Amino acid sequence: MMSSRTLALAGRRVRQKHFASFYTRPEVVDFLVRWGLAQAGGVVMDPSCGDGRFLSSAALLGATAVIGCDLDPRALKVARSALATEHVAATVHEGDFFALDPADHPRVDLIVGNPPFIRYQCFAGDSRRRALQSALALGVRLTALSSAWAPFVIHAIRFLRSGGAMAMVVPAEIVQTNYGLQTLDALCRNFAQVHLLAFARNFFADAEADTYLLLAADAGGSCHSVEFHPLESIQQLASVRMSGLASTTLPVGTTERTPFALAFLTPKEHDAWLQAIANPGVVRLSDLGTITNGYVTGANDFFLMTREDAVKQGLPTEWLHPTVVNAASLRGPEFAPSDIAELELAGKPHHLLNPPPAAQLDGHRQELASFIRRGVALGIHLRFKCRTRSPWWHVPGLHVPHLFLPYMVGREPIASVNAAGATYTNTIHGLRLRRASSARTVGIGLHSTLTLLSMELHGRTYGGGILKLEPSETRRVHVAVPAKSDAAKAVDRLLRSDDYLGAVAVADDVVLRGELGLSAAVIGQLRSARARLVCRRYSRNQGRNTR
Ligand SMILES: C[S@@+](CC[C@H](N)C(=O)[O-])C[C@H]1O[C@@H](n2cnc3c(N)ncnc32)[C@H](O)[C@@H]1O
Repeated sequence: MMSSRTLALAGRRVRQKHFASFYTRPEVVDFLVRWGLAQAGGVVMDPSCGDGRFLSSAALLGATAVIGCDLDPRALKVARSALATEHVAATVHEGDFFALDPADHPRVDLIVGNPPFIRYQCFAGDSRRRALQSALALGVRLTALSSAWAPFVIHAIRFLRSGGAMAMVVPAEIVQTNYGLQTLDALCRNFAQVHLLAFARNFFADAEADTYLLLAADAGGSCHSVEFHPLESIQQLASVRMSGLASTTLPVGTTERTPFALAFLTPKEHDAWLQAIANPGVVRLSDLGTITNGYVTGANDFFLMTREDAVKQGLPTEWLHPTVVNAASLRGPEFAPSDIAELELAGKPHHLLNPPPAAQLDGHRQELASFIRRGVALGIHLRFKCRTRSPWWHVPGLHVPHLFLPYMVGREPIASVNAAGATYTNTIHGLRLRRASSARTVGIGLHSTLTLLSMELHGRTYGGGILKLEPSETRRVHVAVPAKSDAAKAVDRLLRSDDYLGAVAVADDVVLRGELGLSAAVIGQLRSARARLVCRRYSRNQGRNTR
């Protein structure tokens, strides 16, 4: 039987999921409210106030009136009773913030809070329609992939008086996604100053994504850049003076997207990076060819098998495609038939069994019928991906690229030349080169610190330290390709003997020193920058400030 504590925890998780209610730590609440009141004072609004902690803090710190809104009646009960003990006029709306029309409300001086982080898949119906309309009213046509927090922030701007301020918690998506950057752009068009504070440690115990603090001052003005301030932890907030904080100025609204993670580098590392990418020998991966996603079977346990198993089952070998299954399949700068043989010998299937749709008509009708029977008996045809395609037993979207690139990056990403004529699942990316003959030299280039650092700068960090690079982000990654190199064997030997840094040192020698002519000092700064960013993403959730 579940204990009452377990039940309470389970209840909390369900509510968190339903309302996206991750409440904010008091240190963060007080910092945001203090900063905001010092900018704009007066009437304070929290559009998703939950239990009212921002409003109580505002009341305590001198707000003249507070206004809250939230969907969650249980949280609002707590908010109302907390505010009843404060000597301040309090108005609390129960319902959807997007249903509040700014035209019906007097302007407020300060907006504070922590908007709901509801992903686009769960953000639907009237609320979403109103949200997108409100963003349009401020000239922002948000992309279909927008999470709720983005229109929330934009809708909130419309309640502010000229000269007002905004102090909110926002996800790091604000600098990592197109809709986040649209939101940041809208902030820059509506405030004279925009600051983002980032922390080395994540301060939300339960949230997956990285979180920043947004401080926007002087509504009605505008600016073209954001001041980005990296801090160690939220404990620093108690003593922080904004005027004395180190910052990096990063332009917003430019066609060339600036990687905001640059703000975490030291000035010397930043300069080394700018010097390296100014070299005419440095290009983007999109300059070399096309990056594509891999296939999705919907049932790897059914469609992936060893060659031996397929033969045993009497399945036609022409239906078999050698395949990379995931990043762990890649162990060196070249993925060769011998890798597949070794992996399969270790019991790890590396063939996709994919009867062509025309198999119904060719000479293997019986084999196909028995394959389909077996799938149906296992219920494979009912799995989501299978039942939404026709025929369910044919996997579409197979590509055979020249190189495999990482999608989820750990500490030691490996990119491999496709020497096995293999296809790949959607857990990695494929690069089809314009000049196929350069595959080996590109492969060396992909292991230099320049590319590894560029991945850190362009990817998105997630819980557990993983860095994700979608195809659009991978296209922006920098690479320098040596004219020729005999280093492939050395890199291969070092990677396969788990000497990752040794392999990178060889690639750096060939690419950064030999090809680009960078000095040892600059290469050292690039290495330290990469190490700093890797360390940041792995330590983000360690010793984090749980509630
Ligand atoms: C991240 S919590 C923040 C709560 C509180 N402001 C805090 O920081 O501790 C987000 C809140 O948004 C509320 N919420 C979700 N969708 C909303 C909507 N459309 N309108 C108003 N509130 C909403 C949830 O109920 C939840 O209380």
